[in-house]
Amino acid sequence: MGIRTSSRIAGIPHYEPGLTMAEVMAEYGLESVVKLASNESPFPPLPEVKAVIDEGLGGLNRYPDGAARSLRDALADRHAVDRAQVAVGNGSCELIVHAGVALLDPGTTVIHADPSFAMYPHLAAEAGAEGIAVPLAPDGGHDLDAMAAAVDERTRLVIVCNPNNPTGVYRSADEIERFLDLLPDDLAVLVDEAYYDFVSAPDRGRVAVLARTRPNLLVTRTFSKAFGLCGLRVGYGIGSQSWIRALDAVRQPFNTNQLAQVAALESLRHPAAIQARVDEAISERDRVSAALREMGVPFTPSHGNFILMQPPDPGSEARVLHEALLKRGVIVRDGSALGCPGTLRVTIGAPSENDAFLAALAAVAGIHQHS
Ligand SMILES: Cc1ncc(COP(=O)(O)O)c(C=O)c1O
Repeated sequence: MGIRTSSRIAGIPHYEPGLTMAEVMAEYGLESVVKLASNESPFPPLPEVKAVIDEGLGGLNRYPDGAARSLRDALADRHAVDRAQVAVGNGSCELIVHAGVALLDPGTTVIHADPSFAMYPHLAAEAGAEGIAVPLAPDGGHDLDAMAAAVDERTRLVIVCNPNNPTGVYRSADEIERFLDLLPDDLAVLVDEAYYDFVSAPDRGRVAVLARTRPNLLVTRTFSKAFGLCGLRVGYGIGSQSWIRALDAVRQPFNTNQLAQVAALESLRHPAAIQARVDEAISERDRVSAALREMGVPFTPSHGNFILMQPPDPGSEARVLHEALLKRGVIVRDGSALGCPGTLRVTIGAPSENDAFLAALAAVAGIHQHS
């Protein structure tokens, strides 16, 4: 007999993390593997960032700054907002979960797209609220009109993932602004821009500018992807003061650890080095996309650091292809774990990792790869 738990727990979808490199090596008897499954950066933190982490180790007997003042000030500067318009969290994921805790009650709803990031159904269930999952438009992007139409008096939160994970489809700032104009000013909207850095569109970043003045908008960003700090867990939100107050009310006092704070702050001091990494990820995304096109592999053109693809042979199963790639030491994500059965999601890695993926894909799918 176990402990008695909240009735809400049963409704929380189980999140299946991808396989670790060690698990795959042990299972398939491999000496090395390439992991392209979790949309991580292939680059370690910058040397200057490693240095401040090293320096910070000696101070870990002290609690961190609970208000993350230095980091929030730097982010406030970057986004031309007041510090009171910045939230910092243990990954942007924490801020997303906190949005659910702070805004939802039983009987209320949160509207999000489907398929999209796995945490969104989680926060509805955790709060005992109802998640309204609005199917994506045929192009794999948010159906913003359908999402606006789903809003009613029970709606407390609307989440837009832009670019969307797992499809990588981007909605322009104009489209988002038009969508915001359809909604009441007191209805909270969270635009999750975890993959913002990889967007190849001239209006990239404009939604965060809207968040300076819109009373109901929060834009979340992360140091996990372009900045390569996912192991430390640090993300942030820019939004109205009422959004930030709501998030602050539910967080624990020391939610962002000390090393995460100094590492994120130092990363912000090296924009050119970070941009060079992003540029490489985008050019590798273009190269992998071109190779898939040449191989006749159907995929969704992406603005993220990942690509959602289908098996080249319509008769073959994504599950089987996933397993065949694992046997060759290439870990990608099975789309069925992401709400996209019949697909695979591959993260853009370092050039050699992408080569390994393309070679393995060509071999297992029986495709002749042109060089
Ligand atoms: C769409 C989206 N949002 C948020 C996150 C969470 O990022 P983190 O908590 O590492 O900042 C992820 C992670 O993969 C994501 O895909």
